[in-house]
Amino acid sequence: MKISQKFAGLSLFSRLAGAAVFFSIMVVPLAQMEGGQSQAQKAARIKIDRDRTIGEIDPKIYGNFIEHLGRCIYGGIYDPASPLADEDGFRKDVIEATRRLNVTILRWPGGNFVSGYHWEDGIGPKESRPKRIDLAWGAIEPNLVGTDEYIRFCRKAGAEPYICINLGTGTWNEARYWVEYCNRESGTHYADLRRKNGADKPYQVTYWALGNEMDGSWQMGHRSAEDYGKFALEAAKMMKWVDPKIKLVACGSSHFGADWIGWNRTVLSYLKDYADYIALHTYLGDWTKDYYTFMARTTDVDARIKVTESLIRETMLKSRRKEPIYIAFDEWNVWYRAGVKEALEETYNLEDALVVALFLNTFVRNAHIVKIANMAQLVNVIAPIRADGNGMWLQTIYHPLYLFANHCAGKSLDVFVESETYDAGDYKSVPYLDVSAAYNAEKKELVLNVVNRHKDKEIEAEIISQEGQFSGKAVIEEVNGPDIKAENSLAEQKVKISTREMPVSGSRFRYRFPAHSFTMVKAKLN
Ligand code: AHR
Repeated sequence: MKISQKFAGLSLFSRLAGAAVFFSIMVVPLAQMEGGQSQAQKAARIKIDRDRTIGEIDPKIYGNFIEHLGRCIYGGIYDPASPLADEDGFRKDVIEATRRLNVTILRWPGGNFVSGYHWEDGIGPKESRPKRIDLAWGAIEPNLVGTDEYIRFCRKAGAEPYICINLGTGTWNEARYWVEYCNRESGTHYADLRRKNGADKPYQVTYWALGNEMDGSWQMGHRSAEDYGKFALEAAKMMKWVDPKIKLVACGSSHFGADWIGWNRTVLSYLKDYADYIALHTYLGDWTKDYYTFMARTTDVDARIKVTESLIRETMLKSRRKEPIYIAFDEWNVWYRAGVKEALEETYNLEDALVVALFLNTFVRNAHIVKIANMAQLVNVIAPIRADGNGMWLQTIYHPLYLFANHCAGKSLDVFVESETYDAGDYKSVPYLDVSAAYNAEKKELVLNVVNRHKDKEIEAEIISQEGQFSGKAVIEEVNGPDIKAENSLAEQKVKISTREMPVSGSRFRYRFPAHSFTMVKAKLN
């Protein structure tokens, strides 16, 4: 795959994204600061109003992704020779770490890989499954993990399955037969084949993606938006005719070159009556070796969401469709160092973990429209979990995702934030404090997610509830480390979560957010 092609067009987009009009959260600059150099002046303000809701946070925004790539599947989740493997060959320690991460939905089998994958190669007795050349990653695919094994892994990990079909080299029949294999009870060829392969009950796979990154020239079977729209529409029709309960995800833009908006508009116009989601992908990196620019890059993610939301609205206006179309951000992460030669085994540091928290803040602030998101990928390959013969360990990026996935639920709130800002590269007036919030009415709990982008200074903020009273002890969870370049390893967790408590009462309290940190504050709000 051509990584450089995928990242092309970013600078043009960054300029577009710099405009404050794209911020969903209201941010008022306190004082403009150049690249984080001048002194903090007065306390920031974070105002919460439980009536100002954005939308219900869908737990499926805490999804993940496994692809037949490098050591993600073989040597990651599946390693029958390992003493740590269970009776099915899956790594028990990886399953445990996945469960702790509360992975709600797990995308499979690719990625670029899927555009050359023929699912029937991966079912039946393992000894008769063919070995194939995988042209996406230049590997040999042994087909030892196929549909039945993937579903078994999902069940063990407690994740909802989400299958991406092959619309590159694949056919309409392959697509509809795959749905039949997974979801029909019995009495038809593919349903009975699944039963013969040991699964009496249908798998009831609800979520299906209509191909992967079909807008990219690196994709096997890459098409124009028109050609993809027509081809995917026929696949979508047949898949829904086999099982009307399934939800389909159209292939939106995977990279943000000159005509990504046109791609999304065309795809939506073809698929508006069948697609329930449109997919977006974004990988971020510190390409300019400038911390403050890197910390501002999720403003582009916000802009992509907002623009796509408008395109969905435009499509709906032109359509008879009444059910909503949402965004599935089904590949996202930091990825810019490890290429194919390194099997995409990126080692993450603290600043990457902060960018992951910024991504998640962005999804929470857009909770009304982003209803699925999948970090790419789960194990070894650009992943929060690393596993090899010596054991399993957690990368820095595991920790913010863990906190969000386990605690940030309920309704997303439209928070008012007054914070000092900075300029860096193409990004103007970036607030040092990046905030999202959720209110869980059942628990009467406010969850406040705050990234302090400042490299050197703590920032004091007054947290004000417009109505309602804080009470009890707030639980404060902080992801931080000795410096922004700190990394984790099997030997040491330099970047980790520290937890403390703080009594709160009345309608406001103050907290000092440490430099280069992500802090989650959980407080009772009655
Ligand atoms: O996640 C790695 C790769 O990034 C995926 O295979 C592809 O969809 C994207 O370009």
